[in-house]
Amino acid sequence: MISTLAPRSPRATDTGATGPAATAPSERTARVVRLNRASSRRPIEPDTHLPWGTLGSGQVIADELLTVHGLDLRLTADQRCRLSREETAAMLTMGVRFEATLNAGFAQQVADARDVTDPRVTYMLHEIGEEARHSRAFVRLIAELAPTATNPLANGPIDWLTTKAARSVAKTDALLLVMILAGEEIPDLLQKLASEHPETDPMLAALNRYHRMEEARHLSYARTVLPEAWASAGRVERIRIRYAAPLMIDQLWQMFVHPGVYQTVGLPSFKTWRAANQLPRRIALRKEATRPVLTALLAAGVLEPGRIPGRWRELCGVDAWGDEQAA
Ligand SMILES: [Fe+2]
Ligand SMILES: [Fe+2]
Repeated sequence: MISTLAPRSPRATDTGATGPAATAPSERTARVVRLNRASSRRPIEPDTHLPWGTLGSGQVIADELLTVHGLDLRLTADQRCRLSREETAAMLTMGVRFEATLNAGFAQQVADARDVTDPRVTYMLHEIGEEARHSRAFVRLIAELAPTATNPLANGPIDWLTTKAARSVAKTDALLLVMILAGEEIPDLLQKLASEHPETDPMLAALNRYHRMEEARHLSYARTVLPEAWASAGRVERIRIRYAAPLMIDQLWQMFVHPGVYQTVGLPSFKTWRAANQLPRRIALRKEATRPVLTALLAAGVLEPGRIPGRWRELCGVDAWGDEQAA
């Protein structure tokens, strides 16, 4: 990934990119040092920082933030309440699994590091610690939400493939960073919308604010070191980033709320899940959430303006130059 970390791929030349991708290693190191200082300054313990025990028993997110908003389902207040809690719990559960994959990947990079005094190693240790705290908070809130949904895709072939893919991504450097950018940008937008909405349960809004604050540093780290990881990435990893990553990100987006959630309020699970994912407003939200990932890839020299692969264009709703396309 970087000169002081053991490379996992034989390629170690630079991309020759200009702009942010061409930022000198010393400048990137200085940025990581600043992130380390920020993480050290005020560690937040969610068990004492958040107002636990205050979660209301009603609807935790507003109607317009539910995935089914726009399907004209005419749900009762009880159904909307249940759905809000189940959708939130499903997203938090996905967050726990995603953060565990991130931690596995970073832990492996720390284990492989040639120089453990590199500020990047220190930062990854900060991030692992922060993600562990986030996940503890998510788990605690999931327990308070008391979801009953079971994921019908769990233990089937899709789950098997997803697990294989996640384990494989954790062993990469550049692809891991791309998936980290996606796995952090998507919840960032969803948590922004929820935390800023006046009808969001105050406990959930507080958790979202706490999480977004720390994730801003994680996103900054991923953007900073992506050019280095890309420079060291081999041919297969580069192909995976260009062509497979957008499919994986789309899968991640769809799986944030799994089909079983809808069954808890008497809706057909797969039919509702597919319909919700095809809603124009959901597609627009996916594009809005994933565009910053593409911006980071362009800035890092991973993708080139004018030559953005079709799957990335489709995922983010842009043309070959990265310009937003009308819906
Ligand atoms: Fe997190
Ligand atoms: Fe994070």
